[in-house]
Amino acid sequence: MNRTEVIQRIIDKKKACSYLEIGVYNGKNFFKIKAWEKIAVDPHFQFEKRKRFKWIFKNFYNIGAKYHETTSDNYFANTKFSKPFDVIFIDGLHTYAQSLNDVLNSLNILADNGVIIIHDCNPPHNAAAFPAHSLEHAGSLNLPGWTGEWCGDVWKSICYLRSVKNDINVFVLDCDFGLGIITKGPSAPSLNFTEKEITAMNYQDLEKDRKNFLNLKSTSYFSEFLDKI
Ligand SMILES: C[S@@+](CC[C@H](N)C(=O)[O-])C[C@H]1O[C@@H](n2cnc3c(N)ncnc32)[C@H](O)[C@@H]1O
Repeated sequence: MNRTEVIQRIIDKKKACSYLEIGVYNGKNFFKIKAWEKIAVDPHFQFEKRKRFKWIFKNFYNIGAKYHETTSDNYFANTKFSKPFDVIFIDGLHTYAQSLNDVLNSLNILADNGVIIIHDCNPPHNAAAFPAHSLEHAGSLNLPGWTGEWCGDVWKSICYLRSVKNDINVFVLDCDFGLGIITKGPSAPSLNFTEKEITAMNYQDLEKDRKNFLNLKSTSYFSEFLDKI
């Protein structure tokens, strides 16, 4: 299973209308998604207007898609949201601080029964998890084992949310570099790390207790989750 399939199955199950994607790059995922109100946010879209147009014919749901070429912080701060989103996919800058900011801002504009999906929560190795400032920065460091895939320390946002928030449910689906899935609803705090402890953690800490840190679920759990939403 990959992110596109997971997102689309959630949209279909919920009969969701509105979809927001933070961090879109070349639109590999965004253009394929079928939802009537699609919003794309990225400071540097890696496609021309022509490609947007072509994708209307490949997937008619792109006809009303809206594109905001700006950072997620700027988008959240300067947009008047007239109604909440059903589904939000967060895949922007892969740092702990920015991914957490994106989740907290997204929670404010998520429908009560909405779903947030966060990409890259389960880095496969140390190089992919390096806490760089950006993909370009990570790629310039000659990290041992570097494969060009960068998840950064997004995983720390999962640890934070599971330690601090008692009004959301969080798990990570073990596919496509870890898809964090968040729904609203009361929850018992499942980890008890302080912010200071999370900031000080490194990849070795994650490796020692990955399943517990992330509430990692195998892909077979996904159908069970869909039945609940
Ligand atoms: C991994 S790519 C997204 C891939 C895409 N979601 C997909 O599934 O194919 C990350 C994107 O995040 C964008 N990005 C970086 N900083 C950002 C920010 N502050 N706000 C929103 N997007 C950002 C980058 O420009 C890049 O295009």
